[in-house]
Amino acid sequence: MAKQKQSSACFLNSAILLFTIFCASSVSVSVSARVHPILQSFHQKPIFRSNFHSIYDTSNYGTFQLSNGLAKTPQMGWNSWNFFACNINETVIKETADALISTGLADLGYVYVNIDDCWSSVTRNLKAQLVPDEKTFPSGIKAVADYVHAKGLKLGIYSDAGAFTCQVRPGSIFLEKEDAALFASWGIDYLKYDNCYNLGIPAKKRYPPMRDALNATGRTIFYSICEWGEDDPALWAGAVGNSWRTTEDINDTWASMTNIADLNDKWATYAGPGGWNDPDMLEVGNGGMTYQEYRAHFSIWALMKAPLLIGCDVRNMTAETIEILTNKEVIDINQDPLGVQGRKVNASGPDGCNQVWAGPLSGGRLAVVLWNRCSSATTITASWDTIGLQSGIRVSVRDLWQHQELTSDAVSSFSAKVDAHDCRFYLFTPYPDHSVE
Ligand SMILES: *[C@@H]1O[C@H](CO)[C@@H](O)[C@H](O)[C@H]1NC(C)=O
Ligand SMILES: *[C@@H]1O[C@H](CO)[C@@H](O)[C@H](O)[C@H]1NC(C)=O
Ligand SMILES: *[C@@H]1O[C@H](CO)[C@@H](O)[C@H](O)[C@H]1NC(C)=O
Ligand SMILES: *[C@@H]1O[C@H](CO)[C@@H](O)[C@H](O)[C@H]1NC(C)=O
Ligand SMILES: *[C@@H]1O[C@H](CO)[C@@H](O)[C@H](O)[C@H]1NC(C)=O
Repeated sequence: MAKQKQSSACFLNSAILLFTIFCASSVSVSVSARVHPILQSFHQKPIFRSNFHSIYDTSNYGTFQLSNGLAKTPQMGWNSWNFFACNINETVIKETADALISTGLADLGYVYVNIDDCWSSVTRNLKAQLVPDEKTFPSGIKAVADYVHAKGLKLGIYSDAGAFTCQVRPGSIFLEKEDAALFASWGIDYLKYDNCYNLGIPAKKRYPPMRDALNATGRTIFYSICEWGEDDPALWAGAVGNSWRTTEDINDTWASMTNIADLNDKWATYAGPGGWNDPDMLEVGNGGMTYQEYRAHFSIWALMKAPLLIGCDVRNMTAETIEILTNKEVIDINQDPLGVQGRKVNASGPDGCNQVWAGPLSGGRLAVVLWNRCSSATTITASWDTIGLQSGIRVSVRDLWQHQELTSDAVSSFSAKVDAHDCRFYLFTPYPDHSVE
């Protein structure tokens, strides 16, 4: 959602009046601490260097989680905003659901069909309920949910933890219970909850009431917090939502995508099953970046355990867009059950643009991306020191874009030539029993 300057002064009076009610209604839902057993055994294997823990610091992994049973792996699906913005209607949502099925994207895990801003009428009805826009959603949201569910998909909707949404539709603040109940009655499966017109009330106070309201409906609803990373949500949102935006909105440019990747990287230690850092939806297929740049965008989002929410028109994708979005080997990295966010482990060369990003996977494997952010081709090296392996360990290397095994006995480092703004994505499988002395 585009941020808009807020006119908080207009709402100050009502904010003060309602503040007491707000605080009183903010009942906390219990969250449980847990450490993934798989992580423990992983760290004890002799193939990893003693610095493994500091390279892939997981000290905050799974500390607090919303226990609604969702987001065991990052959410996958589609969202209307990046391509359609406000130009949505029930036809385009249904056709998108059809296309997710016909392209095979749904079978790969892209199951959430998420309607962003602009679905609702600009005013509530006489019962103070949200109403779907009667021109663009004449059949209502429930009919769209029924359509989507009949295809085995899930429907997401959008509201705002403020007086209005960014496109000035009614927001849900102070009416969380009513709106959550309405969403549940429609069969909604996912809520993206935005941050416009927030009355200057801290996010930590505005986001928990909707968590509790969603929980109180008894319907399991994915809760996607979108406060643009303003109050460092990684530090608190794990107990509130299933994912939290760490940055401002992405746009369809190389500058935006790389900037957001770096900002999201900062919070890697906080991600884990149940709650994910969200660097915003994918721009793959929207035309503002090259094939190589989109491939890097998709690879890094997958490695960072970001939500994979397609942001293009899936009814009309080029062969290249389809190739990127349907790369099952890359999706498998994103959906790996270990759920540790990969991160930037080395940046060398001019402006640090020769980058190595890596992360642990289940089964003692590693995902490794060599990312060339320079403007000419270069050779990038991942040394075993950098990625946390003992130098004598033999590794089999699989290229996840070429879909082939490159070698079964890489030792001490692995290098490849990478084109400008492109990346290489590898699955490293170390062999503990075959190390070179
Ligand atoms: C629905 O939205 C799509 C995408 O913006 C547009 O092409 C189409 O004309 C709209 N259909 C109707 C009936 O408004
Ligand atoms: C509500 O919260 C409780 C406690 O965290 C959890 O066990 C339950 O599954 C939640 N229910 C829903 C519908 O999200
Ligand atoms: C896109 O994002 C970049 C980097 O954050 C920013 O400099 C630029 O102004 C944005 N462009 C648009 C059109 O919003
Ligand atoms: C399909 O996408 C192409 C760009 O890739 C565009 O030129 C064309 O207008 C689109 N067609 C429809 C029907 O939207
Ligand atoms: C980062 O990579 C460069 C180039 O391969 C290497 O010289 C340097 O030692 C690496 N730094 C770390 C901390 O691994």
